[in-house]
Amino acid sequence: MEQLILRDIRTVNKNLVFQASVVDASTRALVKGQKPVTLWLTGLSGAGKSTIANALELAMVERGRHTYLLDGDNVRMGLCRDLGFSDTDREENIRRIAEVARLFVDAGLIVITAFISPFQRDRAIARNVIGDKAFVEIFIDTPLSECERRDTKGLYVKARSGAIKNFTGIDSAYEDPVDPDIRINTLVDDLPMAVGKILAYLDERGLA
Ligand code: ADX
Repeated sequence: MEQLILRDIRTVNKNLVFQASVVDASTRALVKGQKPVTLWLTGLSGAGKSTIANALELAMVERGRHTYLLDGDNVRMGLCRDLGFSDTDREENIRRIAEVARLFVDAGLIVITAFISPFQRDRAIARNVIGDKAFVEIFIDTPLSECERRDTKGLYVKARSGAIKNFTGIDSAYEDPVDPDIRINTLVDDLPMAVGKILAYLDERGLA
């Protein structure tokens, strides 16, 4: 039933017939002894998404969980290497990530994603594709001024000088999540606190 709903929200060629597998998502999850979920980190470049995602994955692995981390820069070197940073390319980037995350959740994994994912609509689509119950939106809410001050990759300097176009926060929009499941302000929460907050939320929902 859930698979039907998931399929219906996407455009499906009417000459395709969905093949249900004998081993299904709940069986795969049962074998792994965990509740599959996507922990979707969103925020500006330099907000701390990758750092938190890595520490979070380590904490989950230490709990014996089976995980996978999808990270913006890495995915853009492979699956999404044909995409740039126009609004439509970002939309396609997030659409592909959502589909991959959905497959990994189906495989029984705990997926952590670290993408700017700047548009509310695309994050809502990701939630729909993956399924509301298996989607946790985590807003890494670091102010632009702080991301720019850190400028860990030296990209803000390039964006300000005009060497990079369509840079998020400079000449491309970032839409704050309206009602994220978890909000982390890295000016207030250090790394252990950020990870602790996410784990506490997952424990509370029986997902960790
Ligand atoms: S998203 O907007 O489509 O979600 P994604 O997370 O995949 O972006 O990639 C963002 C990363 O690409 C940044 O962390 C940065 O390292 C790099 N990057 C290169 N050009 C840009 C740009 N114009 N805007 C934002 N990030 C960029």
